[in-house]
Amino acid sequence: MIKIAPSILSADFSRLGEEIDSIERAGADWVHIDVMDGHYVPNLTLGPVVVESIRKVTQLPFDVHLMMNNPMDYVDSFIDAGADSISIHAEVLPHLHRAIMHIKDRGCKVAVALNPSTPIDILEHVLDELDMVLIMTVNPGFGGQGFINSMLDKIKQLKDLIANRGLDVDIQVDGGISPKNIQEVSAAGANIFVAGSSVFNEDDRRLALEALRSRASL
Ligand code: DX5
Ligand code: ZN
Repeated sequence: MIKIAPSILSADFSRLGEEIDSIERAGADWVHIDVMDGHYVPNLTLGPVVVESIRKVTQLPFDVHLMMNNPMDYVDSFIDAGADSISIHAEVLPHLHRAIMHIKDRGCKVAVALNPSTPIDILEHVLDELDMVLIMTVNPGFGGQGFINSMLDKIKQLKDLIANRGLDVDIQVDGGISPKNIQEVSAAGANIFVAGSSVFNEDDRRLALEALRSRASL
């Protein structure tokens, strides 16, 4: 099942409610919310108070991507604020299994995110607990970067691993996704596509989403 999750990192933050409304009306599946702490990544964005406030303007599921050194200090606040799914980075979590189980116990969907240089082996013993794996297809921190082509092989490897185990785990990709590459990324095995600049930099959000969705389904 293909889903498109526009990242509000590329939205106009002075009109955040309207921006979210525009993507909901244009047919987005999820809202992707990038949380950056200025330590794990060289950028700062938003916290639970913003999530709580935008929770009132849309029915769309909130997919919260935590790019933080200490995500477990904040997951409960983000879940209380209205997160439907949370992605935590494997690279910062010595007790990854415990972190996954905590988010699941709270009734929230859970994903593990992997930076481009992080091998999928790190998931071997936790994969069956996950709803989704987030393959970063850029180095996290900024919107508008170029897709890293070597991630196509990584997506295929993960797809094979999930299939060989007979699991039902979604593969999400994040970074540099556009109508130009989404077909190839989808063919590699991804089914949930984060798209920041390729949605919010377009005036016609419905056309932008349609361009992504139609090519991903080819
Ligand atoms: C990058 C973020 C992405 C980003 C994607 O660190 O995790 O979600 O907003 O933006 P685009 O689609 O412009 O690469
Ligand atoms: Zn993201």
